[in-house]
Amino acid sequence: MFQGDGIQGAARSTAARFNLPRGRGRRPPAHFQSRSGPGRDIEAAVQTLDPQTRRPDGALASPATARNAGPILEVLKAHLPARGRVLEVASGAGEHAVAFARALPGLEWTPSDPSPEARTSIAAWAGAAGLPNLRPPLALDVLDEAGWPRETVEAVVCINMIHISPWAATEGLMRLAGRVLRRPGGLLVLYGPYREAGVELAPSNAAFDESLKARDPAWGLREREAVAAAAKAEGLVFTLRVEMPANNLMLLFRAV
Ligand SMILES: C[S@@+](CC[C@H](N)C(=O)[O-])C[C@H]1O[C@@H](n2cnc3c(N)ncnc32)[C@H](O)[C@@H]1O
Repeated sequence: MFQGDGIQGAARSTAARFNLPRGRGRRPPAHFQSRSGPGRDIEAAVQTLDPQTRRPDGALASPATARNAGPILEVLKAHLPARGRVLEVASGAGEHAVAFARALPGLEWTPSDPSPEARTSIAAWAGAAGLPNLRPPLALDVLDEAGWPRETVEAVVCINMIHISPWAATEGLMRLAGRVLRRPGGLLVLYGPYREAGVELAPSNAAFDESLKARDPAWGLREREAVAAAAKAEGLVFTLRVEMPANNLMLLFRAV
């Protein structure tokens, strides 16, 4: 697994809101507090710019997830161990968690999200799927160390969070991953759009970056090199870059 990683195609151009109890009845941190009122929409609930539909049971669905789950799964299949525990950070609606837990039955998959509406959605998808290897969602905020799990896992997966949260969330994610990936070879998998030195930003990613910053100036596409440096500071070495559809990347890191 570890030996199979290698930098791929390095220089080519490529791409809360809150209701459930969170921990011990604490308020969510300010960066998750809702814009309340009549303008509040479903996408704001799980901090995404993707359009979403909601089923009566609270399960949220987005066309983007339906499109990217298959390609992401192919990479996960190639690099995750056959058995062990996976912690998914920022699971959002939970469609990925269900798809991945179903396709990877040897892994115990724990989804998480600080948004109660996201956790309601994850629980709804999970209830309908009835998968024995899919654990209930954790109220995990990478900016709130007090709520981080203590156990060791084989892998941490984080899809589409880094650009839609402040840089401190990336640093928190790396600290969390460094803490739970205690065994050498432990795997951190990221998916999303990135900037890269010497690679022209695809027009669609440039427009996405602008829309993120218009929503919150602290959000935006991150530089792959800066993300790798933040990982290295927590003992995680960048091992693989995979080009994905729609100008996204998957980045793999290993605990040393
Ligand atoms: C664009 S959504 C991605 C959801 C899902 N992974 C997907 O790709 O469909 C971003 C997610 O990041 C979560 N998020 C934002 N800040 C976070 C933080 N500090 N800790 C953990 N998750 C966070 C949000 O609640 C939201 O569910």
